Parts: sequence; C-alpha cells; structure tokens
Amino acid sequence: MKSESLAPFPATHLGNELRALSAAIESPHARPVRTASTAHEIEDLLEASNGPGTMDFESYMERRLLPLTNFEFNLNDARYIGHMTGPMPHYMPSIAANNIAVNANVVKVETSNSFTRLERHVAAQLHSYFFQAPIPKQAVYDPSKTYGIFTVGGTAANETAIWLAKNTLLDDARSDVKCSLDGLSAALQSRGYKGARIITSSLGHYSMSKIADIIGIGERGLIQVSVDASGQMSLPGLEAAISECRRQQHAVLAVVALAGATETGSIDDLKSIGTLCAREGIHFHVDAAFGGALRFSANHGQLLDGIENAATITLCAHKALRCPLGLSAVIIRDPAQAATIEKSSRYIIRSGSADLGRRSAEGSRPANVVYLDARLQIDGPKKIGEEIDYSIALTKNLAQTIVTRPEFQLIGTPTMQVLNYVYLPSHCRHTGLTSENSAEISAFTRKIQESLMRSFVSRTTLSHVADFSVDVFRVVLLNPETGPAALDEMLDDQVNLGAILEASNHAN
Ligand SMILES: Cc1ncc(COP(=O)(O)O)c(C=O)c1O
Repeated sequence: MKSESLAPFPATHLGNELRALSAAIESPHARPVRTASTAHEIEDLLEASNGPGTMDFESYMERRLLPLTNFEFNLNDARYIGHMTGPMPHYMPSIAANNIAVNANVVKVETSNSFTRLERHVAAQLHSYFFQAPIPKQAVYDPSKTYGIFTVGGTAANETAIWLAKNTLLDDARSDVKCSLDGLSAALQSRGYKGARIITSSLGHYSMSKIADIIGIGERGLIQVSVDASGQMSLPGLEAAISECRRQQHAVLAVVALAGATETGSIDDLKSIGTLCAREGIHFHVDAAFGGALRFSANHGQLLDGIENAATITLCAHKALRCPLGLSAVIIRDPAQAATIEKSSRYIIRSGSADLGRRSAEGSRPANVVYLDARLQIDGPKKIGEEIDYSIALTKNLAQTIVTRPEFQLIGTPTMQVLNYVYLPSHCRHTGLTSENSAEISAFTRKIQESLMRSFVSRTTLSHVADFSVDVFRVVLLNPETGPAALDEMLDDQVNLGAILEASNHAN
C-alpha cells in the first residue's frame, strides 16, 4: 500500500490546506465576533454527515470543518475582549502548520531531536527572566537540570508545581517512607502529620480544587484565605491559616499566590508572602498564568516584585503572551528539584536520558514551545512588553470612561488588563450598587452579557468587593488591535441593551 505519510517533509498539500484555513483565521473580520447560531444548528450540521467514511478531504473541509469554524467565536477580533484566549500575532497559524506537518513528540529525543533542545533553551530563558540569574550554556542542555517543564496549560503547570512541592516535602530524609513510592497517607503518617493542605486565596484559580482532589487531599484540603477589597490575599489570614495547619499537624504542601487573578487581575503581595513562606519553610508557588507576562514590561514589571523568591512559577504562553493554545510552563527555581518527580521506563525516558518525558506529568506532547520561541525571536521581550503596556493603559482608560458614564459602575480598580464593572438601571444610578439592588443589577449584567453581539465580554460573580455577591462584566484586554473606539462602541451597545431591558421590564 502506497503510503502518503512517507512523502518527504513537508507534505505540501497538508501545508496548503492549513494555510487556506489559517487565511480565514488570520483575517480579523473574516468572521463575526460571535454568531447567533444555536446549539441546534451546530448539532444539525454534525448530524448531516452520511456517516463515517463518506467524505473526501475537500467535502470534509467544505461541508464540515469550515462551517463548524464559522460557528466559532472570532477570538482574534478586536472586539472580543472577554477572556484570556485569543489574539495571536499573524504569523502563528503558519508556525502551527509547520508543527503539525513535522508532528514532533517532545516526550523523548527519539521523536524530537531539535525541539527537545529548544524546550530546554526556552525554559532556561524564562528562568533567567524570572530569577534574574544567567545560566551557563552547558547547564541549559544538561539532562540532570530542569529549569522549566512545559505543559499543555496552566492547570497542568500548577499541578506539576504541587507535585514537585509534595514530593520535596514528603520524600525527604526525615523518613524512609516516601510519598512518591508509598503514597500520601503513609508519607504523612511517618513524618507525624495528620493531613496535608494547600493554601491559596479565595480568588485562586479553580484548577487548585482539581489538584487538591487529584493528589488525594480533597477539595476540603484546599484552604482559601480571604482577600481584601483590592483582591489581594489577606496576610493576617494567611498567617492564621498556617498556624491552624501547624496546630492540627497538617503539612502545608504549598502556598499559592496569584499574579493576575483570573477574575479581577489582582496581584498578591508576593514579597510579603514569599518572606512568610521562607520563614515557615513552605513551598512558595506563584500562579502567574496570566500576569507573568508583565515580567516583559519595563513599566509594569515591578508589579511582580517578589516573584523571584518563588520556588515555582506558572506561566501561560497562550494567555497574555498571545501564543496559540496548548503552551504553558512551570518554571522551577532549583534546577535539581524536578528529580523528585522523575520517572523512567524501559523503552524510552530511560534513567539519565535527555528525554523530557522523564520529568513531566504529561506523556506525548507537541513541540508547542516553538510558539513562544517565535514570539521571543520575532517580536522580542521589548515589543511584548510594549503590547502589555498598551493594554494596561487601555484598561485604565476604559476604567476612567466607565467612571464618567452614569450608566455604569466600576468595580474595584484594575491592576492589569482585567476590569470589572456593572450596568446600573436608571433607578439605581443615584445610589449605585447596594445590597438591596445587587440581585437586580446582577440580572441586568447576565442578560446584557448574553445579548451583546458586536462585542464579547465575559462575566463573573464577585463577593469580595462588598459584603454581598454581585455579577459583574469582566473585560480582558490583550489584543493590540483593540482601541478606545471599539470599547466606546461596546459601552454604547450595553447602554442600548440595558434601556431595552428596562423598557421590557416596565411593560411586564
Ligand atoms: C490564574 C490562572 N491559573 C491557572 C489557569 C488555568 O490555565 P489553563 O486554562 O491554561 O489550564 C488560569 C486560566 O485562566 C488562570 O487564570
């Protein structure tokens, strides 16, 4: 049987088709920000196939893949400003096409010779950006050293960080019983602990709940310290949580501080939390999935002061660094620490090999690191930092506009590219948001958010800004193409929708 997969690299038709697809994606106005299509229409399209094996490549593209793509949100549009996913530089689809044509698997050098080394190279670069210590070339490629572990996303990066923290604490020399060999409960018991906890703030990403469940401490093993009105973890609250763990003989596996809370963009006091963790001998992890990108900004980098004291840092390249989905990393201060999670096997990832799969929660992985390498080589840290500065300035500008418009109320003060606000129905404008009208304002937020078509903003429920909960709009500004005009248009659309809702409420 003649195999097309034996054709020399790259299989050009594959490249061409991907290029055709990427042309649609690259053109920001090729698709609307969101379509009015219903789940029904999408399901009908899926069910319209005559069954498996009935389409040739062209009809698959025309009748299935491109129509499905057209039902998608246009995350590259300047008016899509609701989530941390989206606006890629124009060259990314071509880079992704190359990745797919090569299909390298960075789990082992036998399936990825050069990209394996590229991962080590980029991990070392990230390490020096965050920990400010240059790494000698021979150390970068030394298999016994791990400066960072790339993962598919921030969740897996956080999970890897907690895995490292757990094994460092519970495989130590205090006992021959090892967590990695004998399990969590035996390792805790042999060290005199009655349980284990992870501490984060009430704005911590929900991935921490998943991780607490996966590692066997359960969601109740995750302590969520309250935050102040600015969204920062309460330091007295953190101290009290640590003391309570000590009193109950619970091991604290890690304190997880946020650099860019998902819902509000707030940044914890990394300096003070780091000092506290050092004093208490606790693994200090910074979830900088979103905010880590500020490290590239000359004007806002100082907001991350103290991050250099972290033991591990999560960074998502597919968020504020604008890479395609599927690329995050945990950056590890001590390059020897990842030995605590090392695994080997007989057919690959042999002990002492340079295979990246030895120290990774994931097995087979694409060489998505090229996306970040492309960003760094093509745009460079300076341009990336300028983009971030631009988005933060735009966020502050939007905050100002909201403050001056009576139809809205700003909630909190934005630290970075995330902003929260609510729509105020006419009769609430003289009092603003109160506990009495919060349910009504929340209902307006939900309805306006669902009905807005020319732009997309997300929403969340916040409970730290007052002594009651309220649903708020959540704007995330990442796209350098987004400007004040697009934001004004969005606010105008929200005011119009609000007025229509008010009128229909009156009529009913
Ligand atoms: C602070 C933070 N941590 C972790 C994550 C999880 O990242 P991912 O969705 O890539 O798994 C997110 C996602 O928004 C996040 O904002």
